[in-house]
Amino acid sequence: MILTDRVSRIEGSVALAITTRASELRRAGVDIINLSVGEPDFPTPDHIIAAAKQAMDDGYTRYTPGAGLPELREAVTVKLLRDNHIRLVPEQVIVSNGSKHSLFNACLTLFDRGDEVIIFVPYWQPFSDVVKLAHATPVFAGTDPERQFEPVFQDLEACITPRTKGIIMNSPSNPTGGVWSQEATEYMIELAREHDLWLLSDECYEALAYDAPSVSPASLAPEYEKILTFQSCSKTYAMTGWRIGYMAGPVEVVEAMTKIQGQSASCPNSVSQMAAITALTGDQSVVKEFREAFKKRRDLMIEQLSQIPGLSCRNPGGAFFVFLNVSGLFGKATQGYHLSSAKDVTEYLLHGVHVATVNGEGFGDQEHIRLSYAVSEDNIKAATDRIAHAVALLN
Ligand SMILES: Cc1ncc(COP(=O)(O)O)c(C=O)c1O
Repeated sequence: MILTDRVSRIEGSVALAITTRASELRRAGVDIINLSVGEPDFPTPDHIIAAAKQAMDDGYTRYTPGAGLPELREAVTVKLLRDNHIRLVPEQVIVSNGSKHSLFNACLTLFDRGDEVIIFVPYWQPFSDVVKLAHATPVFAGTDPERQFEPVFQDLEACITPRTKGIIMNSPSNPTGGVWSQEATEYMIELAREHDLWLLSDECYEALAYDAPSVSPASLAPEYEKILTFQSCSKTYAMTGWRIGYMAGPVEVVEAMTKIQGQSASCPNSVSQMAAITALTGDQSVVKEFREAFKKRRDLMIEQLSQIPGLSCRNPGGAFFVFLNVSGLFGKATQGYHLSSAKDVTEYLLHGVHVATVNGEGFGDQEHIRLSYAVSEDNIKAATDRIAHAVALLN
């Protein structure tokens, strides 16, 4: 079958492929501990579910305006001011079916064939695929594992050419968990301003920063008009399946994105939008509870992993991922397994001790694997014990 060039250019989701394999093995009766997950294991809080039920009873079952309900766009501005010190008007907000959908619309709006867009390695895989879907070219810049995977600024400056149109940043980061300092964020803004670049800031995990708060670039440079802020209800309120995310930025970009969204999804889901209003403006104590639970789990996972020889990682400041350097295991072997790449390590852990993790290749990295701690403390203990056992068997 002949399909488009567009399809063959993109890679598809490595993490999803692992999650699918892990659930197949589980269905076959294997006792898998799945550390490949990219979503909170908590249920959506009751008051948000109640708001959705009420919305259905109240007849919110029809198409909404393409950019989202005016009340929700307003609620987003309230939230952005309260939590992120970003002051905007509702016309500067578009709500989409998840922030990934907003990102897709934004890339189609801002980038064209021949444009270059800078992405930091290790990167969340959709950044590179979505840029390619816009017919632009991703250009990869290095980061420093010792400094929360902040950009290596010399590298970054060398990546900028006359074709560079934008930069995508993501702090707290998937897959590294790194949280950039305010200084690093300020430097990004300076660079964007100097070269007149769009700065797309993916803040999907902004509520999950444990040691220092995550800083939104738009809060530091309200006068720079080329900053786009992407946030989501998915991780902050345990609402991944509800599909509500949003972008806040210049009105002209919002209007163009609305045009694109209108010809694909039409509008975001009506019931979910009503639930999102309650999530964003209702009781925020759940956000703190989730954050505290994840922080405890992060500390536990780091403590457990730090005792295993051959593995190394820094303390990730946010999200719910540990990006573990496994290069110390390369060259080792046991029971028919020969480890020479991060992929070999994930295969060994999956089949040898039934722990599902994601290898770094899909994130543009060769030495790390991603472990999610969006699982119970018991599972973190059991999984890290299994990993320790697997490492002890290697020669
Ligand atoms: C870095 C990052 N950005 C955005 C998203 C998308 O979130 P959603 O589309 O559910 O809002 C994810 C989800 O995994 C993510 O990891």
